[in-house]
Amino acid sequence: MMPPTAQYLTDFAYIAAIALFILSLKWLSSPATARHGVLSGEIGAAIAVVTTLFNPELVQFKWILIALLVGTMIGIRLGLVHMTAVPQRTAMSHAFGALAAALIGISEYYMRIPHISKFEMTEIALEVIIGSLSFTGSLIAAGKLQEILPQRPITYKGQNYVSLSVLGAAVVIALILILHPTRVYFFPFMVLISLIFGVLLVTPIGGADMPTVISLLNSYVGFTAALLGFVLNIKVLVVAGALDGSSGFILSVIMCKAMNRSFTNVMFGAFGKLQVSAAAEKEERTVRTASAEEAAAILGAANTVIVVPGYGMAVAQAQHKVRELYDALSKKGVDVKFGIHPVAGRMPGHMNVLLAEADIPYDRLIDMETANSEMPQTDVALIIGANDVTNPAAKTEEGSPIYGMPIIEVDNARTVMVIKRSLSPGFAGIDNGLYYMGKTLMLFGDAKAFVGDIVRELSGGAHV
Ligand code: TAP
Repeated sequence: MMPPTAQYLTDFAYIAAIALFILSLKWLSSPATARHGVLSGEIGAAIAVVTTLFNPELVQFKWILIALLVGTMIGIRLGLVHMTAVPQRTAMSHAFGALAAALIGISEYYMRIPHISKFEMTEIALEVIIGSLSFTGSLIAAGKLQEILPQRPITYKGQNYVSLSVLGAAVVIALILILHPTRVYFFPFMVLISLIFGVLLVTPIGGADMPTVISLLNSYVGFTAALLGFVLNIKVLVVAGALDGSSGFILSVIMCKAMNRSFTNVMFGAFGKLQVSAAAEKEERTVRTASAEEAAAILGAANTVIVVPGYGMAVAQAQHKVRELYDALSKKGVDVKFGIHPVAGRMPGHMNVLLAEADIPYDRLIDMETANSEMPQTDVALIIGANDVTNPAAKTEEGSPIYGMPIIEVDNARTVMVIKRSLSPGFAGIDNGLYYMGKTLMLFGDAKAFVGDIVRELSGGAHV
């Protein structure tokens, strides 16, 4: 038992950590305060960990220290990845979090048996099932995003029935264990089947939907942590897990809305198989191209420009060159804004983070609705490495997999310029009719190099 003063201090520290987690979520919701959000989340987690280490029930620190060292080393290595690899890095963090929760649930079962109530068994079974499936599911998601595994949806006939039967088997075993917790031989099967279900759940989902899946797995891991908090009677874990679980879920819903897709379509729709639009099959179409010199002349003569960044800007790490372009055009009196699509890139807020890194003023960033209302009065829509989020097929081609997805309607601008390396499709695997429009100029090349060339032309045309 803890002395009363120590108990008060512990409760106080946990409440402070919880308050910091809540503030963190609040601040993370705006690019202007996001850095504070990250910091307060980190401080909250540090307070929670250190307070737990003072718990008098902890008598052995050897293994905790070893785990801390190994975890720190892996954490630093994982944190040093390139910005474009953050989604798979996040998936790996979820995999570790889920594994930790599942392992604690497993050890609690074996430590408590045979004195385990039905209620405790329910908590442990739920925690172990969700933790195990989130572990393997997150590993598959990371493998797909890292392209170690095929990105395309891997499907076969009757797949959803097979997957649901596997999940059903895990639930039936859990029910048997809840009614008869001492039937220990069932427990490993429940773990194994849940691990298999995680693989079956994520394998049929296409790479383009992985960010949504990762966010959903994040919410599963959060709820697993909350269940773990109940099992171990640690209130801070219940609250932190619930915050994590609900925010992850809300984020998945926001992403689905931004793509105009339902949850079932994301989870079972096998989205992302390579397709060519009907129009592309019918006719040989031509595109108009322009050089950096021509692009600079058009941009320099414009009054208003809306830049639409996408995944290609992230891959090329072109954000600093884009900042130079913004400076050069602003100096010439051009009104430059950045139209941000909610699912541009590969993770929520991807473009905001990159543009903030390059110190582009926040007030120059406009959301999709504002960009669309301003587009008809815009001289040039300059697309840098974006594709799907500008594809007019989302408005016009009923059979298209992205039909109904809200897009940035760049085709309403007076002139459209697209910087990308080729006519290859974006992540959804579909052709983009925008490139063949009369008002579109294709600026073929790597985003960083091409934007750099335009900046050079704008600042005097000195070729290197
Ligand atoms: P994409 O449609 O994936 O298109 C990116 C384009 O960038 C490609 O067509 C590619 O064309 C070009 N590119 C690649 N490397 C480049 C380089 N070095 N320089 C210049 N261009 C380069 O990207 P988007 O428009 O941002 O759309 C995001 C996609 O991800 C959508 O399908 C969206 O639904 C999906 N998604 C996103 C999220 C979040 S949260 N962001 C969540 C779920 C799904 P080339 O190969 O010809 O250069």
